[in-house]
Amino acid sequence: MGPPDLLSLALLSLCLLVLVVEPHRAYGSSRGSFGLNNGPATPAANGICATSVTIHGYKCKEYEVKTQDGYILNMQRIPEGRDDGSTSTGNKKQPILIQHGVLVDGMAWLLNSPEQNLPMILADKGFDVWIANTRGTRFCRKHVSLDPGQPEFWNWSWDELVSYDLPAAFDFVFSQTGKKIHYIGHSLGTLIGLASFSEGHQADTLKSAAFLSPIAYLSQMSTALGVVAAKAFVGEITTMFGVAEFNPKGQQASIFLKSLCNYPGVDCYDLLSVITGKNCCLNSSTVDLFIKNEPQSTATKNMVHLAQTVRDGVIAKYNYGRPDYNLMHYGEARPPIYNISNIPHDLPIFISYGGQDALSDVQDVQLLLDGLKFHDVDKLMIQYVKDYAHADFIMGINAKDIVYNKVIQFFKNQL
Ligand SMILES: *[C@@H]1O[C@H](CO)[C@@H](O)[C@H](O)[C@H]1NC(C)=O
Ligand SMILES: *[C@@H]1O[C@H](CO)[C@@H](O)[C@H](O)[C@H]1NC(C)=O
Ligand SMILES: *[C@@H]1O[C@H](CO)[C@@H](O)[C@H](O)[C@H]1NC(C)=O
Repeated sequence: MGPPDLLSLALLSLCLLVLVVEPHRAYGSSRGSFGLNNGPATPAANGICATSVTIHGYKCKEYEVKTQDGYILNMQRIPEGRDDGSTSTGNKKQPILIQHGVLVDGMAWLLNSPEQNLPMILADKGFDVWIANTRGTRFCRKHVSLDPGQPEFWNWSWDELVSYDLPAAFDFVFSQTGKKIHYIGHSLGTLIGLASFSEGHQADTLKSAAFLSPIAYLSQMSTALGVVAAKAFVGEITTMFGVAEFNPKGQQASIFLKSLCNYPGVDCYDLLSVITGKNCCLNSSTVDLFIKNEPQSTATKNMVHLAQTVRDGVIAKYNYGRPDYNLMHYGEARPPIYNISNIPHDLPIFISYGGQDALSDVQDVQLLLDGLKFHDVDKLMIQYVKDYAHADFIMGINAKDIVYNKVIQFFKNQL
């Protein structure tokens, strides 16, 4: 199968989050609503610290961070390990910023036991851990003048995560700690990191970066997508959702998915492994927690932009779909590209990718590595995990031994 045309990452991600982890509930024939929890979101007073961190005996503090375009983002800080009896160690610890992927929020990192989840492992290893959450997710539905009921609130794509959300998080952590920051991204968190660093946004605040299950080029996903995604058009999504919220738990999304699953020959149950790859190492209790808390809303425009990335095979800014519109926004008929080769060649980079990962396809990772071919050889560390698929990197019960310890070693080498 050649590169797919007009494929939708929207669908992919949705399927990743809905299907992959819960095929039975998500597509069980007797269920009308995909089995997702449609109840009201946990209020911010019961934020991520309270529900997922302090209950395990860790200190945790909630922050609000404002972006330059007025979004108010929520962050969590786990300043030290659970058994770190010492009184405040001041600013001695090395800060790490952790960035989640699309359609989830920072809680996705915290669903496994403290011995298994990345933020707590890092805290126990002596790091000052900061968890970022992007605009539109449960605790980031705030803006200085807009509210989520207005289309304008959702008028953004991952370009804005690159230009506003990530810089806001970096600047804030830097202002609080005075130290250059280690970055860890998963999935879309890798794309916005790579794009942002290629534009030189965090030159003064970034110390090193770890990319787990990297997503940059997406055009080789053909096998992963199989039959269903080929039917999902960018246009179809926009027509249905307009410039507005894309709520994967909402009725429209559910209708949209169901319609795709009704295509002849499409068996959504089997798509589990077709779409994300076979996750080797998930705990079913963790998966249940995941279903309760994720997926989260994003902007339809963000989904469209991701679909464009799949379709066009380049890492570029949002395409307004018409040369004159692009000209108006960018002064060029085509959207400007993010050139991965412009990431500073001496930036220490760790990349871990999985042999079973259908979203971060091995061939696409090769394209990414090709973009990094002029990187200083001793600054680039690459790990290939044969059995891992997309979700194993955030929820794998053995991710500590296989991936996280390597990340920690990599960070500790950057002194
Ligand atoms: C979204 O933002 C663009 C500029 O980036 C503007 O041209 C457009 O009118 C906006 N649309 C809405 C619905 O706010
Ligand atoms: C799976 O999660 C449950 C609930 O947190 C836990 O009791 C169990 O030990 C976990 N299993 C593995 C293999 O980590
Ligand atoms: C990206 O930048 C590199 C040098 O930094 C250059 O050789 C290459 O042509 C650029 N790629 C594109 C597509 O502009």
